[in-house]
Amino acid sequence: MRAVITKLAFHKGSIRAKLSRELSRRFNLFSYESRIEYSAIDRPHYGYCVMHAAKLAKKLGHNSVSVLEFGVAGGNGLVNLEMHAAEVSKLTGMEIQIFGFDTGQGLPPPHDYRDLPHQWKQGFYAMDVDKLSAKLTCSQLVIGNIAESLPHFVRSYHPAPIGAIILDLDYYSSTRDAIRLFELHRPNLLPRAFIYFDDIIGDDVALFSEYTGPLLAINEFNSGHDSQKICKTTHLTNMPYPETWHHQIYIYHDFESPDYCRFVSEETQELPLATAR
Ligand SMILES: C[S@@+](CC[C@H](N)C(=O)[O-])C[C@H]1O[C@@H](n2cnc3c(N)ncnc32)[C@H](O)[C@@H]1O
Repeated sequence: MRAVITKLAFHKGSIRAKLSRELSRRFNLFSYESRIEYSAIDRPHYGYCVMHAAKLAKKLGHNSVSVLEFGVAGGNGLVNLEMHAAEVSKLTGMEIQIFGFDTGQGLPPPHDYRDLPHQWKQGFYAMDVDKLSAKLTCSQLVIGNIAESLPHFVRSYHPAPIGAIILDLDYYSSTRDAIRLFELHRPNLLPRAFIYFDDIIGDDVALFSEYTGPLLAINEFNSGHDSQKICKTTHLTNMPYPETWHHQIYIYHDFESPDYCRFVSEETQELPLATAR
């Protein structure tokens, strides 16, 4: 019954849907999962990645999972992740660990055209580390350039298996360095991990392309690795209420992970022959 009411409230494209989403967002109406499905919550893309990482980790027998945000800036994303982590913990019983990576001083100098200097400048998005640290309840900050901090991450922080990654570093070079995660810490990842790429849609000034920015980093990673791939999702464009973020979720696959082939779907699946009327 609840599912029917939810579907009616968010019926595709209607004014009622827009109103329902706004009311739901403001007053936390409907279940957490429905609010993500209908984007009726702040940063549903963050929630989507956290929730599905936790569900997969649980099916694989873990009781905790890590979520990494690459590119923290002032920290609004990290604060939002803490809200999602609390909801997902309630829903799944999983412990969610959150790590935020940033220089703390804003964007480093761009290397060349691939870092899109027509769009961004060194020093944009500096963090007030003390102010953010005082606001965070459970996330840990990993301050420094990712090229230097990422290699030591697992040894220094002992994270739970990594299942979700928010990538918001703007530059090609920084994204390339961040996705070295999949080489440096391969055994510490789930066989499939949920990734949100912030900087792949853009606008008519940014004009992102396959030859610059994060899209270039993704393509280079895929060309250089046979058994690890970063792929678009195929199912999200079929969601009941289309949103830009549906095009920004990618999945990291490690086809050689010992867990890649473990069955995690519905246990009983049957399609009995329908009886003729
Ligand atoms: C657009 S901001 C992130 C915004 C944040 N995710 C949010 O939603 O509020 C991009 C951030 O990436 C960080 N960054 C870019 N390249 C980096 C690198 N190589 N190492 C560490 N941080 C980097 C910058 O310091 C900047 O704060």
